[in-house]
Amino acid sequence: MTNIRIYPDKTELVQSLTEQILTIESESIKEEGRFSIALSGGSTPKALYQHLAESDAFQWDKWYIFFGDERTVPPDDDDSNYRMAKETFLSKVPIPENQVYRMKGELEPTVSAEAYERVLQDVFGDNGFPQLNLILLGMGDDGHTASLFPHTAPIHETEKWVIAHYVEKLDTWRITLTPPVLNNAHYVAFMVTGDKKADRLNQVIHGDYQPDTLPSQIIKPEHGQLLWYVDQAAASHLE
Ligand code: 6PG
Repeated sequence: MTNIRIYPDKTELVQSLTEQILTIESESIKEEGRFSIALSGGSTPKALYQHLAESDAFQWDKWYIFFGDERTVPPDDDDSNYRMAKETFLSKVPIPENQVYRMKGELEPTVSAEAYERVLQDVFGDNGFPQLNLILLGMGDDGHTASLFPHTAPIHETEKWVIAHYVEKLDTWRITLTPPVLNNAHYVAFMVTGDKKADRLNQVIHGDYQPDTLPSQIIKPEHGQLLWYVDQAAASHLE
């Protein structure tokens, strides 16, 4: 079930998404005694992370932090998704450090991907794909999400939980959760803002199904809910 929520601006979007996260957190803690969330990288989520950090409504000690993808750089690198999340959010809230699981971008990529899969097995068990409570995703203006870039193999991965792959377009390696894990979450929430993404967003949501070209289309939670949090600018071309 796809649920598109459109807001006049990013501020209202962030406030509403924060309330949604509080609802999911409460449900998760009631059912599982914890709240597992995968953070997305890039720039869009910064405002959300800053807003979360200012809230005193959350049960931070029950949060388990994962990442949807990571660049192959050290954790203190400008490009690191972990660094961005730490600076805007994790350094400001009392989530136990041993409940923050970063993808180690400083390691050899395939070693790092295998290590992260073991981390997920340790936390979620290895009886089927891990089921996170919430996965936050962004969408690039080429339609990619996490590090599933157009015309790359991880879009069609059906076995592995985490993959490292060379992204020709960026001339770099990336580490990413795979569609089976992303689609196994209770909730998946995309956050998309800005008019530069308007055309692509319409293609992804209303266009023909072509995940090789529009990898965000591969995100269709098996049992969970897919939520789109979009500002008016990004929604301006939705048919
Ligand atoms: C990353 C992200 C990526 C991001 C999109 C959108 O590592 O870059 O995980 O998937 O969500 O590229 O990025 P912006 O929010 O910066 O537009």
